[in-house]
This record gives sequence, structure tokens and C-alpha cells, in this order.
Amino acid sequence: MTDFADRVERISISGIREVFEAASEDAINLGLGQPDFPTPEHAKQAAIDAIESGAADGYTPNKGIEPLREAIAAKYERDQGIAIDPDDVIATSGASEALHIALEAHVGAGQEVLIPDPGFVSYDALTKLADGTPVPVELRDDLTLDPAAVEDAISDDTAAFIINSPANPTGAVASEDDIREFARIADEHDVLCVSDEVYEYTIFEGEHHSPLEYADSDNVVVVNSCSKLYSMTGWRLGWVVGASERVDRMVRVHQYAQACATAAAQYAAAAALSGPQDIVEEMTDSFQRRRDILVEGLEAHEITCARPTGAFYAMPEVPEGFVQECIDRGVVVVPGEAFGPGGEGMARISYATDAETLREAIKIMGEAADAVR
Ligand SMILES: Cc1ncc(COP(=O)(O)O)c(C=O)c1O
Repeated sequence: MTDFADRVERISISGIREVFEAASEDAINLGLGQPDFPTPEHAKQAAIDAIESGAADGYTPNKGIEPLREAIAAKYERDQGIAIDPDDVIATSGASEALHIALEAHVGAGQEVLIPDPGFVSYDALTKLADGTPVPVELRDDLTLDPAAVEDAISDDTAAFIINSPANPTGAVASEDDIREFARIADEHDVLCVSDEVYEYTIFEGEHHSPLEYADSDNVVVVNSCSKLYSMTGWRLGWVVGASERVDRMVRVHQYAQACATAAAQYAAAAALSGPQDIVEEMTDSFQRRRDILVEGLEAHEITCARPTGAFYAMPEVPEGFVQECIDRGVVVVPGEAFGPGGEGMARISYATDAETLREAIKIMGEAADAVR
């Protein structure tokens, strides 16, 4: 067999998948990164209508259908008071593709990308696929990313830094002051800030802020998606927003790699973004209740956990052997190091599961912790 490209040999299937494969079929899965709600009816119906009318049969413009890009622009006006030109939006196949084209378009061979550690698994892998070098930046004790640590890590080779609030895997939410600082760093150091905001609607305390609100330069690119905002992970519909010249470069990658996001999903996303928003509050309230159950449950078992203020993940400190013991006892959690060396000694728990199952899992996790202490 011929050799494979170095860039693909530098990455491997995520540690999350490996954990799933090791678990038994009837295990309680606290490893999944998706909301446990159905996609809103009006979004489904818009896709059905587009399919039945034939509107979803053909390619759409590369950047996506106009009504979707307008709905995305309207979302930024509504939520953050930011005016976005619909022409500066690319609809992508999930935030995953949005991150990919953002890095492909901005990272040169050997250039560095600063990533939170622990951080979402794609940041490291997509940087490597872009022939770049990921530079992990350690988090604070409260698991937020410190702008000063990012600033310290900037070198002549830095192409970009990635921020993610609310964050996977930690559930931490950046303060408004920190977001302002990230915008200043992007401006002053003339480096790109890629802001991954896929959990922006799932915040229990405080408010979501984007560096797009504060940057004076065009050095911020925002990635988002319907996956977590509207419980639409299967639809594969995300987007990236940035300055026209950046969009022009990103759309080159998107055009050749993807052509366009799936047409039916684009119609569903436009409806989700512009229709009733009740699901947002419903999901957030429900996740907050489950956050409380989890954090209190872990505390009762003397498992220390920074209190997550967003998303639907918690990252407690766990004794050695805890993850394997949980899996052996039928609860799947993900080892912290799957998200970077900074995750060592921790586990990621997704609480996007019903309260009763969660309580059962907490009991088992407590027993697992006792068994390995
Ligand atoms: C922080 C973060 N960014 C991006 C993604 C990718 O989301 P999508 O389903 O839109 O590709 C995920 C998915 O888990 C995520 O946690």
C-alpha cells in the first residue's frame, strides 16, 4: 500500500469514540455531546415543504440560500445588536465544517494556533490537518481561558487563537471582561480570533458575549450552528461569519470541499432561526435543573467539580482509574485527557440525559469513585 499523508497520520479518531466502543450496549451514556430534545416542529416542517416542492432538489448557492443567510444576520441583530451583511455568512455542514474552512483559510504550514487545554477535540485535529501546529493554553482553576495566558503564548508564528464560550468540555462561560480582552488581543496583535459559540444559548448565569461585539479590527471570525442551539445535530447545519475578505477565502475551501450545505437542512435552519424561540428557554431551564442535580450529586460523593455555568457538560476532578471503573459499572464518561493534556485527572460528564437516569448514574459514579480511592 502507498504511504498516507503526514497530516492525516498526525491525527487519530477521537478518544470519545474509543470510550463508546469500550462500553456495553446497555450502559448509561454520559459521553454524548448532543441535546436530548426533538428538533422544533416548524424546522422539520420547513424541510418537508422544501423537499415536497422540489426546492431542496438542487445545489444552492455556495454560501447558502438567501433566506438562511438573512435569518443568520437577523439572529446577530436580535441577540447581540451586531449588524452582519448576509453576504458575509457561509452556511456550512455544521460548526465542524465551519471550523475546518476557517483554519484552512487562515493557517499556513507550520503556523501556530492557540487552543484551550482542555478544549474541544476538533481544534487540535483541524489545526494539524491545516498543516499548522496546535499550541495548548492551560485554563484557570475555574476552567475559563485566561486572556493573559493567550497573550503570553502569542509568537511571531501565531496565526490564530480559538475561544469557546460556553465551553466543551468544561461548561465554563467567559466573562464579558475576558471577551473584551480577547477582542483587544485580536486587534493589538493582529492575530485571528476564532470564536466558537455553538453553546451560546445554553447559559445559566450571566450572558453570552462575542468578541465580534468589541473588536475594532476585522480579526474575529465566529463559528456557530443549529446543532446545539436548536437540537439539530443530525441536520449538519452551521455557519461562519467574518469580514468579506475572510469569507471570500473561506468560501474557496467550502466550494471545493462541500459545494453547499444540504439544501433541506438550510430550509430547516432558516425556520429554526426565524420561528418561535421557545425551545431555547425550555432547553436551558432543563439543563440548569440537571446541572444542579449533577453538581450536588457529585459533591455528596466528595467529587470536586468547578460549577459549570453553561453548555451541558461538567468536568470534575476524579481519582485515578475512575473512568474505567465507571465504564466497567455501566456508565460512560470521557477521560479528561481526550481533550488535551490539561484534562488529565478529570472526566467530562455530559448531563444531556433525563433526571432519573442521571441520578442513577451519579450513584454509580459515587460507587466507582469509592472503589478506586
Ligand atoms: C465546541 C464545539 N464546537 C463545534 C462542535 C461541532 O458542532 P456541529 O454539530 O455543528 O458540527 C461541537 C460539537 O460537539 C462542539 O462541542
